[in-house]
Amino acid sequence: MKITVVGSSNADMIIKVPRLPVAGETVMGGNFSVALGGKGANQAVAAARMGGNVTFIGRFGDDVFGKQALNGLKEDGINTDLTVIDSSVPTGIAEIMVDDEGRNIIAVAPGANQNLCENDIANAQKAILASDILLLQMEVPMQTVRFSAKLAFSNNIRVILNPAPAHPLDDELLGYISVLTPNKLEAETLTGISITDERSVELAGRILLERGLMRVIITLGEKGSMVIDNGGAEHVPAFRIKSIDTTAASDVFNGALAVALSEGKNFYESVRFANAAAAISATRLGAQPSIPGRDEVMEMLRKNP
Ligand code: RIB
Repeated sequence: MKITVVGSSNADMIIKVPRLPVAGETVMGGNFSVALGGKGANQAVAAARMGGNVTFIGRFGDDVFGKQALNGLKEDGINTDLTVIDSSVPTGIAEIMVDDEGRNIIAVAPGANQNLCENDIANAQKAILASDILLLQMEVPMQTVRFSAKLAFSNNIRVILNPAPAHPLDDELLGYISVLTPNKLEAETLTGISITDERSVELAGRILLERGLMRVIITLGEKGSMVIDNGGAEHVPAFRIKSIDTTAASDVFNGALAVALSEGKNFYESVRFANAAAAISATRLGAQPSIPGRDEVMEMLRKNP
């Protein structure tokens, strides 16, 4: 099944820390590592490892990190013919701290990601229109996200938007989206609702549906995910794991979700599949290094019927 991902690619600079520092504080950490990351590239890799036929559209700097990122995508069998090497800026960099409970804080220097433009998308129009699903996030300029979503929507291609990092969205853009996949924080930013329990999750989902969306899946970490559409709200439980690093768990969820939906699985089954893939990724350090293959996900589903 064909998935096109328009989005970011970063080199992730990771420091393990016993606990996340507060403003003005220095915390002595443990190991430092560098891993391939970026929400867009992570989603593309997840979709490819789940068995999708994936095309990635993004920009890289003409530097060592850009070369490594591009090679990584190619090794996963992802079509990178429509990516752009931009020698005017460096490849995106993310600084990530991960604590002993697997929680993180992330700051991104977007570099080449912020130059991904409408022209890049227009050049990739043929691939987008040949896709079953277009997968988007928000680490590239919002006008590029909007242009991509509108192009796909106008040609009856389903669009999944993962609204990360959190950012308010207007109704026009929401109208192009088939499935919106905010996490708790992003759903709060989009709706102004404070999410504390199942009722408030559903309320946030309903507010988004009223703004023109067809379906919302709110991801809730260890509490699973909630699918909300005009037919009702359905909770899909999480898998129990020992969390080492939750970086990219949402990205893995989105990549796996896109593949499952493109294969014609129903929403419950697709979200269960995506929850399993995300859970496995949270048991390992790093973004792309943590992404499981499809066999592992199927095994997790078999063991937890
Ligand atoms: O979602 C995780 C990703 O966010 C990391 O890989 C980092 O690059 C940032 O983009």
